[in-house]
Amino acid sequence: MPHTRPTITHFIIDEQRRIGGTGAFTSLLADVVTACKMIGSQVNRGALVGVQGIADTENVQGEVQKKLDVLSNEIMLRASVVGGHFAAMASEEMEDVHPIPEGYPRGHYLLVFDPLDGSSNIDVNISVGTIFSILRCPEGVEHPTAADFLQPGARQVCAGYALYGSSTMMVLTTGQGVNGFTLDHAVGEFVLTHPNLRIPAATDEFAINASREPLWEPPVRRYVEECTAGALGPRAKKFNMRWVASMVAEVHRILIRGGVFLYPTDSELAGKGGKLRLLYEGNPMAMIVEQAGGMASTGRRRIMEVEPQGLHQRVPVILGSSDEVRRLIDYHREWDAANPAAA
Ligand code: AHG
Repeated sequence: MPHTRPTITHFIIDEQRRIGGTGAFTSLLADVVTACKMIGSQVNRGALVGVQGIADTENVQGEVQKKLDVLSNEIMLRASVVGGHFAAMASEEMEDVHPIPEGYPRGHYLLVFDPLDGSSNIDVNISVGTIFSILRCPEGVEHPTAADFLQPGARQVCAGYALYGSSTMMVLTTGQGVNGFTLDHAVGEFVLTHPNLRIPAATDEFAINASREPLWEPPVRRYVEECTAGALGPRAKKFNMRWVASMVAEVHRILIRGGVFLYPTDSELAGKGGKLRLLYEGNPMAMIVEQAGGMASTGRRRIMEVEPQGLHQRVPVILGSSDEVRRLIDYHREWDAANPAAA
């Protein structure tokens, strides 16, 4: 039976018509969507096209790049330059801002992205994804620098991710809720399969890299200990735990069935500010989660209100079902109040 669900392009056109947009945004998102389809295709073909393994280079954070990290970054840059809607781009894989080359039109938006999040999972065939965030280029700025990208997450005009999993999906928000689209390979289009995603407030599932337990701050340890104590503990219910080591997959699971994801600061990460990056991981995922009715916090403040100080700034991340995130914020507040010198 032919499906009558809207494609992602038709969905965005409709949304734009409702808010009286010019069409630039539809076209810009179409470029990002095309890039994600191309990245997904490479991820999917894996060893057949020789894209697995390391690239013999390091990114700005000193992390070994995978061949697919480098390729995905290239694909995203190429797709976003040609359309003429972006003024500049920044990504996890590049130290500085990528300007629009001479000879190409320059638009009014800034694109920030993590081309392939969770890339340690590529060689073992576990889900990875692309995360992106779209900001407005400040008025009057012709040649954006890093400073123009340092906008708090609350100023994002759009955030989304592509998940390359058992099916390829695109999840998107422009500030009017969150919608999920599944790639129909037969027609080469994303179609709306998950309209108006909502995260349940209550959950009994949490996600954290438990190998870092000796390094955790007391409020995080308290929370996890209470969860793992199960039915006989203070929470009086059994919790389940998951860890994919791929933030896109974790956030997607939370959008579908609830849960809480933590990559908190700890005694090893405190000097760096956290593990995950604010501009291209924390902020876009925070916008998606909040738009779906969840919460996203560092434990001490709303992620989207953090004033970025650098392109590659890191941030503690606690996000998902609001009852659990609120509880974690309370535990941090209680601990800080009782230990003012440590806070
Ligand atoms: P990267 O993009 O460098 O692969 O980072 C993956 C991120 C995130 O997606 C995931 O939640 C976390 O790092 C995994 O960290 P651990 O290695 O500590 O599990």
